[in-house]
Amino acid sequence: MPRHLAVIMDGNGRWAQGRRRPRIIGHRAGARAVNLCIDFCLDKGVEALTLFAFSSENWDRPADEVGGLMKLFTGALEREVDELDRRGVQVRFIGDRSRFTDAIRNRMAHAETRTRGNRRLVLTIAASYGGRWDIAQAARSLAEDVAAGRLDPAAIDEAALASRVALADLPAPDLFIRTGGELRISNFLLWQLAYTELWFTDLLWPDVDAATLQAALDDFARRERRFGLTSAQVGGTDEMPE
Ligand code: IPE
Ligand code: IPE
Ligand code: MG
Repeated sequence: MPRHLAVIMDGNGRWAQGRRRPRIIGHRAGARAVNLCIDFCLDKGVEALTLFAFSSENWDRPADEVGGLMKLFTGALEREVDELDRRGVQVRFIGDRSRFTDAIRNRMAHAETRTRGNRRLVLTIAASYGGRWDIAQAARSLAEDVAAGRLDPAAIDEAALASRVALADLPAPDLFIRTGGELRISNFLLWQLAYTELWFTDLLWPDVDAATLQAALDDFARRERRFGLTSAQVGGTDEMPE
């Protein structure tokens, strides 16, 4: 069972276009699939779920789509937080918040404060997020400490950088899921996915159901995670011992 699941929820636009509806209808349908995915993780005892909701690059989409997504985001923050809190979900956001309006930023902060004590599931929404942005902000934070005399540049190693990127206090994602058929990372968690198992499906995000997510978990259970070691070292059975 993965402790931490990271998901690129892709295919909303195509889902709507296939029905000859505006793309925003697909995003609305996608929001329903988000609830399904959260329910699934709660049910399976997954400890952390990180969802890619809006990338750094998505800001460059047509203004009406970005506006529609912001409205949807605002509405979801208003509607869902009580229920998430009740179910023991801790809500967090990662990404460049400076690009959101004050109203959205305030709602995000409120959701985080409100659910801070919850432990059943840590739900992280990546919004206005990019893996490159994440690594850049971690580097900036280290540089600030060096400039202030609090940090010796010689002490900057992988662990130091790891401690400043998003999700630093969570185990790295064990399993990555991308729906929508594209076989790429699209600037999601570049640092954190180094040894994550990747799983792709052609299904569009609004069409995802519990059986899809279960198929990903079943596949994950069959993977051998070697982290650079040999199969024998990690206790695999497909290699003869010396
Ligand atoms: C993912 O669906 C949601 C966001 C990026 C906000 P898309 O909107 O990318 O849907 P497709 O890939 O165009 O079908
Ligand atoms: C990735 O999907 C971002 C989110 C799902 C939020 P995109 O649709 O933006 O990715 P590309 O453009 O196909 O790489
Ligand atoms: Mg897409």
